[in-house]
Amino acid sequence: MSTAQLAELLATDPSVLFITGAGVSAASGIPTYRGVTGLYNDPDPELGLPIEELLSEAMWRARPELTWRYLRQIGEHATGARPNLAHQVIAALQRRLTRAWVLTQNVDGLHQRAGSEKLIAIHGDAADIACRACGWAHTVASYDEVQGEVPACPDCGGNLRPEVVLFDEQLPAGPVALYRREVEQRGFDVVVSVGTSHVFPYINQPVISAYYSGKATVLINPEVVRITPWSGDDELDCFRMHLKVGAVEAFGQLAREMGISIA
Ligand SMILES: NC(=O)c1ccc[n+]([C@@H]2O[C@H](COP(=O)([O-])OP(=O)(O)OC[C@H]3O[C@@H](n4cnc5c(N)ncnc54)[C@H](O)[C@@H]3O)[C@@H](O)[C@H]2O)c1
Ligand SMILES: [Zn+2]
Repeated sequence: MSTAQLAELLATDPSVLFITGAGVSAASGIPTYRGVTGLYNDPDPELGLPIEELLSEAMWRARPELTWRYLRQIGEHATGARPNLAHQVIAALQRRLTRAWVLTQNVDGLHQRAGSEKLIAIHGDAADIACRACGWAHTVASYDEVQGEVPACPDCGGNLRPEVVLFDEQLPAGPVALYRREVEQRGFDVVVSVGTSHVFPYINQPVISAYYSGKATVLINPEVVRITPWSGDDELDCFRMHLKVGAVEAFGQLAREMGISIA
């Protein structure tokens, strides 16, 4: 499959869902968790634990200072980065198309900063810092604003944390309501996956649903990612098209094909 074919498809003004993950922000200098340039392909060298455990709610309760080591890395990367061409072209496509949404697992705020408005940030935003004990909340421009091994709430002294979804935690109500309305109830003609390893069921489901309704499902990822529905057919792959390149290359080419210029 080529970007020319994708450009042709998008020129018909279908409804589009862009599902994005860490790979879309890799060119902004934010490391991914897994896959190429993955930061956490191996367990933590010092603690011998996988990232899913260090960034879990159970660990946050038991050893918040360990969870904060990783939260700080994520937060510093996020607040220090700038949107790249992929974020910008996605936002431009959203302005051009009648109905196009972004469902992102990223917590880096880069889609928002690139101007994406129809956005479901299903895992929250690392810049939103809160105290769940008393409700104190503040959006930071830099993680220098939250000092300490486990930063303390200025009002009650409780443990502060970024409003991001830890492994084994519930998804936030606002994004979930948007997800139900736009993804589950309305659905999309085209689903494009960009830079995610597809580990969560709510990230796979839109691809599976689109596949079974005969819609276009596109994978943009330098690696092969397969989504096999639970029917047990291991041979089945729900992506009909694969652009096997990085996000910036794919969206840069797409922008040229579609006459989209980014200032
Ligand atoms: N930027 C961020 O906010 C950030 C960064 C790392 C992890 N996370 C969190 O990690 C969790 C998991 O997964 P995920 O699936 O988003 O990421 P992941 O790290 O599990 O997978 C990244 C995927 O992106 C692909 N990739 C790498 N470079 C790419 C590029 N230049 N262009 C396109 N694709 C590229 C990899 O092959 C891989 O499939 C999420 O919960 C998310 O919140 C967020
Ligand atoms: Zn507090």
